[in-house]
Formats: sequence, C-alpha cells, structure tokens
Amino acid sequence: MIDIHSHILYGIDDGAEAIGDSVKMAVIYEVLGFKKVYCSPHVMNFYYENDLNKVVQRCAELQEVLNKEKIELELIPFAEVYLDESVPAKVAQKKLPVINGKLLVEGPLNEWPPYLEEILFAIKIYNVCPIIAHIERNRDLQKNLAKIRQLKEGGCLIQGNILSITGYYGASAKRCFEELLKADLYDFLATDMHNAENNVAMYREAMDKAKKLVGEQVKALFKEV
Ligand SMILES: [Fe+2]
Repeated sequence: MIDIHSHILYGIDDGAEAIGDSVKMAVIYEVLGFKKVYCSPHVMNFYYENDLNKVVQRCAELQEVLNKEKIELELIPFAEVYLDESVPAKVAQKKLPVINGKLLVEGPLNEWPPYLEEILFAIKIYNVCPIIAHIERNRDLQKNLAKIRQLKEGGCLIQGNILSITGYYGASAKRCFEELLKADLYDFLATDMHNAENNVAMYREAMDKAKKLVGEQVKALFKEV
C-alpha cells in the first residue's frame, strides 16, 4: 500500500515534532504493510512556509535515517497546500511539489466559499490536477454530495482519510466518508498521519470497517498519484 498524505516529516508543520516521532510513524507504516509514503507537510502562508526545496531536503534527511534503521519505507516529497490566492502563481513558478501532474490541496474545514473554485480553476490552467484532501471533513461539502460530484466532473480528484470511518473526525465526517466510499467517489484513501498516537490498532480498525462496507478493494485506493 501507498500513502499519499502524511505529516511524517519532523519539525516543519504540525506533524512529527522530532526525528524520533518520524521514526515511530515509519514503524507504524511498516507494520501496516505500507511500502511508500508521500511526505505531505502543510504549506500555508504565515503558518507553514514550506516549499519544494525544504520538503525535498527534509525528506532526504529522514530517508537516510530510515535506511540506517533498516526500516523499509520509501519517502517521496509532496505537500498539502492550503488553497489561497497565492497558490496558482506558486504552481506557475514550480515552487510546489507536483507529481504526475497532481497537487494535494486543502480548503477550510468549516465552509466551502465560492472563491475556492476560482483558485482550483486557476491551478488547472497550468495543467495541474488538484487532489482535494479529506473532503469528508468539510462542513459544507458533508451535506452536499452533488457539489462533490460537480468538483470531480470539473476535473478535481478527491482523497479521504481512512480514520474518518471510525468517527475520529466526528459523526458527520464519518457519515459522509461512508457515503462517498459506497458511491465509489474516492480517487484516493490516505492516513493523514500526524503523530505516532494514530497507532496501528486505530488504522486496523478503520481498514476493517472500510472492508466490511465495500470489500477488499478498499486497499487499492491507497495508491500512487
Ligand atoms: Fe494533512
């Protein structure tokens, strides 16, 4: 399995704090059967001023540590980019990690204002396809599956957080996640792991619940971008 959304890189966002936390998270991935993790720290103006160079460098540093510890996990530099008006220009200037023409993006959790779609449209002009992170956590979209379908038809891909199915992000996110999964609307599932407290048992429980709902093929949604 492959995880395209992870805050395993230490010291650059609200994910792993120290290198030891990153290693503990890597062990969790190994136990769960992941072979590859896209390191996707937040990129957010004024909060997390990460860019491609910083992510690539930290990713290489952590990879070296994992290799020394004989933890078999391949790390890929990626990002989770907060949608604001600065993003299209950064895409144009190739300042953000785009893989196979795709960029992982997130919006606010409490609303889905119309300007977000203008930003998404502006990103697509540069032939970059936005993957909308943990869409089931957005309070407006949770109640509006038609809007989610519309975003997909407009060329966006969608990613769900597997822990949503356990109620980790609340009852509404759980309900929305189950509906999207059953309707086959997710393009990707991921962990969005922030620390080693999101432990093996929690992910196993989530995977079991997802398998009960849609069968073994749920594993195939943990895939490359
Ligand atoms: Fe995230």
